[in-house]
Amino acid sequence: MESLDNTVKPYDVYLSRGQGAILYDKKGKKYIDLLAGVAVNLLGYNNKKINKAILSQLQKYIHSSRWFYNENQEKLAKKISEVTGASGVYFVNSGAEANEVAIKFARKWGIINKNGAYKIITFKNSFHGRTIAALTATGQEKFHKYLKPLSPGFIYAEFNNIKSVEEKIDDEVCAILIEPIQAEGGVWIAEKEFLLNLSKLCQEKNILLIFDEVQTGLGRTGKIFAYQHYGIKPDMITMGKGLGGGLPLSCVAVNKKIFTILENGDHGTTMGGNPVACAAGNIVFDTVSKKSFLNQVKQKGEYFINELKKIASKKIKEIRGLGLLIGIELNENAAKYVEIGLKKGIILNSVKPTIIRIVPPLIISKKEIKKAIEIIGEILK
Ligand SMILES: Cc1ncc(COP(=O)(O)O)c(C=O)c1O
Repeated sequence: MESLDNTVKPYDVYLSRGQGAILYDKKGKKYIDLLAGVAVNLLGYNNKKINKAILSQLQKYIHSSRWFYNENQEKLAKKISEVTGASGVYFVNSGAEANEVAIKFARKWGIINKNGAYKIITFKNSFHGRTIAALTATGQEKFHKYLKPLSPGFIYAEFNNIKSVEEKIDDEVCAILIEPIQAEGGVWIAEKEFLLNLSKLCQEKNILLIFDEVQTGLGRTGKIFAYQHYGIKPDMITMGKGLGGGLPLSCVAVNKKIFTILENGDHGTTMGGNPVACAAGNIVFDTVSKKSFLNQVKQKGEYFINELKKIASKKIKEIRGLGLLIGIELNENAAKYVEIGLKKGIILNSVKPTIIRIVPPLIISKKEIKKAIEIIGEILK
């Protein structure tokens, strides 16, 4: 066998264990983890509360299907709806799948409530997942190239450009799907005015607004959800990544307008809302909803960004971010610095040829951030 999976080239590191924001490899080498399993491990490694909740549910039953009530799922759904004001929370297994479900619901809503409207506006440089409709929603040609014909009915507008959205709107548009921060696209933050205008436009034109908070949600930006920075309310919110504490779990939270569109059988998934993943999910959601926790994320994010900005290096073009979702844009290729970082004991990740994305566990300490900045400074000097 040449490789287990030809679509990925793993680094030459075999991990053995993790504690907090630190990972250890089989040789005992220590790494400050600024990737967190791709923005997943919000509460870090070996979190005692998550472990206990998972074990406790494992000892009861591991899986039951959606044909039975599941206390953990119900509790988590209630918490999400209390924060978001959602009338319904539909659990699935990945970020892509959550977006697929949101797309289906938007289409059904458009067909029934808006004379068959089916088009969905998304944004250039966006990322919504790897299943075919989510990938079509993703506004990056490099992902589309060998998969055509794609799913019809998606139109791409310019991010942070309301005119470009207005130009794309016609009677056939049922929804707009947007990431408040294009994370995989290179950490580009939506401007407040743009999102306020977008929300207004959706209301005026009777178009659903869907926020993909798969990466920005659950405390990552210093608020439970990034939409809360903007004072607007999307009709649907998708979330995933860290929701299951490291186990596969995602969902779409929908408001009253959509909730009534859904009927028995309109949504289905064998593993969605798995009780073990939801047990972990309750711990994650309780923790990231705490004001003190969110304040710490905010403070640590500001400290991280400000200290990065102090690094005097011609290699750095721009530092940007919100909370603990940070981008370092370089004037040159970033891949080699990710490799050097590994050798020096930090796990970085480049999302675009010249952009390094930093998404550590939210529980990372200030001391660990300080050490990571020191290493980044050395690497980029
Ligand atoms: C904003 C956003 N949406 C969707 C996804 C897809 O999530 P998953 O890989 O769990 O399908 C990602 C993954 O990086 C993401 O960042």
